Amino acid sequence: MADSPPDREGVYYRPLRPSDEPSLQQLHARLFPLDYDQDFFSKAVAGADGIVAWAAAAPLPVLTYVGELAPQLVPPSAQQEWREAEVLAGFITARAFPTLYADPHDRDLLGLAAREADQEWVLYVLTLGVAEAYQHCGIARRLLEFALRYAAETACRAVYLHVAEFNTAAQAFYAAAGFRQLAVLPGFYTIRTGRQPQPV
Ligand SMILES: CC(C)(COP(=O)(O)OP(=O)(O)OC[C@H]1O[C@@H](n2cnc3c(N)ncnc32)[C@H](O)[C@@H]1OP(=O)(O)O)[C@@H](O)C(=O)NCCC(=O)NCCS
Repeated sequence: MADSPPDREGVYYRPLRPSDEPSLQQLHARLFPLDYDQDFFSKAVAGADGIVAWAAAAPLPVLTYVGELAPQLVPPSAQQEWREAEVLAGFITARAFPTLYADPHDRDLLGLAAREADQEWVLYVLTLGVAEAYQHCGIARRLLEFALRYAAETACRAVYLHVAEFNTAAQAFYAAAGFRQLAVLPGFYTIRTGRQPQPV
């Protein structure tokens, strides 16, 4: 996939790549009360194990600005480096797999429990996050569009996910994006890190 053209704020969209791994890990630690394995990040940036993942990348405005205002002060090699500097503003990771490998209860809820659906594919959204400074600008909506387009192009029968009950912002986001709540699963998440306020 080619990088998208930048929007008004200079944010553009592209697949995650290996150099995103440290930022991806940091953003997950900040935005989620759950810990993810190192293995997950390595696979997400490599597109391994059925994972598809996109990034919203934003330029580092101050450095770019200085470089462009006073190019004579910056050696050409550094200018190039500065222009390329960017931050990971958001990400979405999802895994595509045949229904056969879905949790049986999830299959039931999705209406795909029949044996004939075994070889139909589904897309499961693993994580979606936008750095605090970039929230409420439509970035998550754009990221989700990439996953939905991928699901449509690969003829997935369903796109689904789990979200913690206390995460009302994410629930509102997914509802606004047209997702329907299928069930409440008590005890689905085990949150032990204590890095974020203890959810009720
Ligand atoms: C949930 C999250 C991804 C939303 O990201 P975002 O880029 O701010 O969302 P968008 O700007 O694309 O919002 C699109 C729509 O979702 C809804 N929405 C987004 N954030 C919301 C919030 N905090 N409260 C209520 N509705 C919200 C709104 O309807 C919004 O449309 P609007 O701006 O026209 O009102 C972001 O808050 C986040 O990263 N949270 C922490 C990580 C997380 O919980 N991820 C989801 C679980 S995997």
